[in-house]
Amino acid sequence: MFNPFRMFFPKKMVGIDIGTSSIKIVEISRFGQGKTVENYGEIKSASFYKELMDANQKGRSLLSNDFIAKTIRGVLDEANIKTKSAIFSIPDFSTFCTSFEIPQMTEKEIPNAIYFNASQYITLPISEVTLDWLVEPSLQRDKSKPIKVFLVAVPNQVIQSYKEIARLAGLKLYALEAEALGVARALVKNNKKSICIIDIGAQSSTINIVERGFLRKSYSFNFNSGQLLKSVAQVLEVDLAQAQDIINKEGLLFKRQDVTKALYLLIDPLLADIKNIVEEFLQAEKKPIEEIYLTGGTANLPGLKEYFSESLKKTVLAPNCFSDFLYPPILEETLKDLSPSFSATIGVALGGLDE
Ligand SMILES: Nc1ncnc2c1ncn2[C@@H]1O[C@H](COP(=O)(O)OP(=O)(O)OP(=O)(O)O)[C@@H](O)[C@H]1O
Ligand SMILES: [Mg+2]
Repeated sequence: MFNPFRMFFPKKMVGIDIGTSSIKIVEISRFGQGKTVENYGEIKSASFYKELMDANQKGRSLLSNDFIAKTIRGVLDEANIKTKSAIFSIPDFSTFCTSFEIPQMTEKEIPNAIYFNASQYITLPISEVTLDWLVEPSLQRDKSKPIKVFLVAVPNQVIQSYKEIARLAGLKLYALEAEALGVARALVKNNKKSICIIDIGAQSSTINIVERGFLRKSYSFNFNSGQLLKSVAQVLEVDLAQAQDIINKEGLLFKRQDVTKALYLLIDPLLADIKNIVEEFLQAEKKPIEEIYLTGGTANLPGLKEYFSESLKKTVLAPNCFSDFLYPPILEETLKDLSPSFSATIGVALGGLDE
């Protein structure tokens, strides 16, 4: 359809990620081929350290929708974000991701086949979830092999909750998307290699496999930066804020070996899981994972990239999700630092600009 306005006005979209340690918001726009970071904002959770000490606390269930919406409104006003259309990233602990194959069929038949298969893979009743999926792009398909599907199921209750948060924050909910899909879109871009993306957040982490831009698998793990914080705090007998400071500035390069040993003790099981997943992919696909991407706030942990590279014997990169965007040059360093935490936020917002 010819839209005379679209030629003159950039399309804008807001991306929002309600993470455990902070809420991240970004407003981006597209004008022709150019993409711009218009505004961004982040607010750290005041209760994060408190919740970290409470062993029974899981997720962000303590915060009401009303409180989250008010906080989002505050960030939007502060960052001067006027765009109403928003896409929220749904954290991995609120989604069920799975992948399977369906026989070769016409494009029209695919949705029915996915619904038909979904109940075998999802433990919740299909009537209680909303499904979203990615199908291996038709150009990439080998016509002699089944079609690969990546499926996401989100409990309807979670969707209701996001709808309410958007409404209370005065936003128009344009879409919701699982964070793994956003992260893959933000980081992989046109890279056609087989990539393993490791996303380490404050509460959870995921290991994702992307093949020629298509998200093939996503696995959740309990490993998180909270464990690192608690461990450093314990060894050094300092509070969590001080431990965070040490982790952020020195991380694995910290001078006391008892501290770094405690950190390696937590990181090594994650590395073992990554090795297994990489090996499994090699066995199943007869293709190696070519690159490892690190993201999530903990990708900034000093020494982590090098340690991963040494242990996995692969190229490990921490790509900058803002690298394709235009922004004032003065923000260069800030956005580089923020980039690991903003991958999901940028990725889901980008999905809204692509359409
Ligand atoms: N420079 C740094 N070095 C090490 N760790 C860092 C650094 N900057 C941030 N982090 C860690 O990253 C964490 C935040 O990561 P992120 O923003 O990805 O988490 P989140 O989205 O809030 O959590 P989740 O996705 O698990 O809900 C912080 O808790 C902090 O421990
Ligand atoms: Mg996160």
